[in-house]
Order: sequence, then structure tokens, then C-alpha cells
Amino acid sequence: MAGSGEDGRPPIGLAVVGAGYWGPNLVRTALATPALRLVWLCDLDVQRAKTVLGQYTTVRATDSFDAVLADPAVGAVAIATPAATHFDLVRAALEAGKHVLVEKPLTPSVAEGEKLAALALDAGLVLMCDHTYCYTPVVQRIRELVRGGDIGEIQFVDSVRINLGLVQPDVDVLWDLAPHDLSILDFVLPEDVVPVAVAAHVGDPIKAGRACLAYLSVWLSTGALAHIHVNWLSPTKIRTTVFGGSRRTIVWDDTNPAGRLAVHDRGVDRLQAADLRRDERRQALISYRTGDTLVPALPEREALMSVMAEFSSAISEGRQPLTDARAGLRVMALLEAASRSADSGGERIILATSS
Ligand SMILES: NC(=O)c1ccc[n+]([C@@H]2O[C@H](COP(=O)([O-])OP(=O)(O)OC[C@H]3O[C@@H](n4cnc5c(N)ncnc54)[C@H](O)[C@@H]3O)[C@@H](O)[C@H]2O)c1
Repeated sequence: MAGSGEDGRPPIGLAVVGAGYWGPNLVRTALATPALRLVWLCDLDVQRAKTVLGQYTTVRATDSFDAVLADPAVGAVAIATPAATHFDLVRAALEAGKHVLVEKPLTPSVAEGEKLAALALDAGLVLMCDHTYCYTPVVQRIRELVRGGDIGEIQFVDSVRINLGLVQPDVDVLWDLAPHDLSILDFVLPEDVVPVAVAAHVGDPIKAGRACLAYLSVWLSTGALAHIHVNWLSPTKIRTTVFGGSRRTIVWDDTNPAGRLAVHDRGVDRLQAADLRRDERRQALISYRTGDTLVPALPEREALMSVMAEFSSAISEGRQPLTDARAGLRVMALLEAASRSADSGGERIILATSS
């Protein structure tokens, strides 16, 4: 219905800030969301904003963030500018009474992120992080499988996200790519399974002045180990995450649309010595399971459409969204500790929350 959201409420006026690589995706999905009405696209390069909008549009382009914030028709802003600009832009938007959707990472420092989270809480405003992967049907299914106990206890997580990536001007590969893996981990793991320590080893073989590849280990409170490998320099694209469980193992290959997700009843069990006869004890205590592999059917749904739906619902319902500022802060705390570890040559850093 034109002029109102699907539930009959007037749509929330939205401004998108940043019309670079990612901003146009926010523009496109906001335009397709009935509960939102896109009113502004703001970019320091106003020509870029105009080009994204095209000729036939009622959405206004501007290079003035102040003009956007002064517009009473704007109830919310979605920020897709480089990470280093997030703190100032999000703070100004919250202080102007606007709800905020901000791209990952929330800010480049936990201290700044905490200030924003407190500001949003005090003002009763929604502050949502676009942890896009958490809204993909595949990650939502993995969450159900892990949290529902289907795979048993998590024994390991192994995530590889490597391709020829854009070497970012303001962040290293850890801060550019690992937010995806860490936000997925945060979203999927049961609430009582939390990271307790991290260690990171990084490399810059092309002398770009920042890490272009990184190996990140995350120890979990259960004793399980998660490993994340991110890399901008790989000529082949690999996006595979394995969640190894005591009962089943999930393999997610995001580059294989026909078989994105597989749940294997295959793995290694260790028999208790007490279960064995005396003459068997000297033999290996290891047994291999070779059961079926299940390929779950997944709905086709664009994650960013679900991000927009969650953002607008959280605003209308006066609640915090699924990926709120706290989720953003948990991811940043890991990234900050990972950077400290990398700076010290890979020292294991115990996380503050685990002491
Ligand atoms: N969720 C995802 O999967 C995903 C994917 C890619 C990028 N991102 C995130 O999106 C954000 C933007 O990344 P990008 O690759 O689009 O960057 P980009 O450099 O391509 O575009 C950024 C745009 O912001 C504009 N800009 C900068 N400062 C501004 C300001 N103060 N006011 C208005 N406009 C300003 C620039 O002119 C530029 O057009 C980053 O936080 C990045 O991590 C998220």
C-alpha cells in the first residue's frame, strides 16, 4: 500500500549515508521495504549519490549530514561509510533522536562502541549492527541446528574466508572480514558458550602497510577451539565454515549454491575404556562414524531484506534488534583483543569477560 507500511502504520522515514560499494545495497533493499520510506541518500560526493539514485526518483541526494538530521521526516538513518567515520556519524544521529542501522564494524574501538550503546539505551533508540550473515537463511538454519542440540556439543569451528579482496584504506583484513565470522559465531553458539581467549597471527607479504591475511584462534568456554582464516590475497575464493559437533558436523560452503549446507553424521568417537573388554583396551579407543549426510532445503531470501525488516520492526515494536549494539560490542571486543595479540606476535589474550 503506497504511503503506509504493511501493518497500516506510516512508514519510517529513512536516510542512507554512504553511496560507495555497500550503500547502494541498503538503498535498493530500503526501497523494497514497505515499512520504510527512503527520503535521503547522503554522501560527501553528492554526484555519486545522484548516480546511485538515477534520474527518476523522489529520494533527495545531499552531501550534508546536518541537513539529513535536521529533517523531521527522517526517523532513522542507515550508515554505510568507512569504519573510521562510524562513531561521529552514529553519535550525531542518536543525539538528533534518530534510530540507527550501522555497517560492521560498529566502531574501530570498544570504548567508542560502549558510548554509542549507552547513548542509544538512554535515548530509547534502536542501534542495530548490520551483521548481514546472521540474516541469511543458511546461518539461521545453522543456529537452529547448533542451539537445538542436533549436532551435540561443539568440538571445533573452522572458518575460511579468502579471496582476492579490496585492500581497504582504513582497516586491516581482520577488521574488514573477520567481523563476518565472529558475528556468525556470536549468533550461532548457545548463549552459555562464550569466547574466553584469542590469539592472532597476521601477514602483510605485499607490504600494504596493514595485515592482508590473518589466522585467528578463539578458545571457547567449553574448551573447544574455533579457528578463522581471512585473506585478501587468495586468487581462489573459499568461504567454508565447519561446525564440528559430538553427534554431527555441519559443513557450510557459501560458494556452492546447490549444496550450501550439509549435515554429516560422520565423525570420530572416543570410546570409554570402561566400555571395552580387557583384550580390546590395548587396541585403539577411537572409532569412526560413517552415517548419512543430510542436505537441508533452504528458503531463497536476501539477507539485507531481512535486515531492513528487523530494523523497521525493532523501531515499531520499541525493542532492540537481533543484532544490537551489544552484539556489535562482543564482536569488537574480540577484534580488539585479536589486534593486540597480532601486535605482540601472536600472544594468547585472555578476554576480560572470562575472568
Ligand atoms: N555487511 C556487509 O556485508 C558489508 C559489505 C561491504 C562493506 N560493508 C561495510 O560498509 C561500510 C562502507 O564500506 P564500502 O565498501 O561501501 O566503502 P566505500 O569506500 O566504497 O564507500 C563509502 C562511501 O561513504 C562516503 N563517505 C565517507 N565519509 C562520509 C561522511 N562523513 N558522510 C557521508 N558520506 C561519507 C564516501 O564518499 C563513499 O562514497 C564499511 O563499514 C564496511 O565494513 C559491509
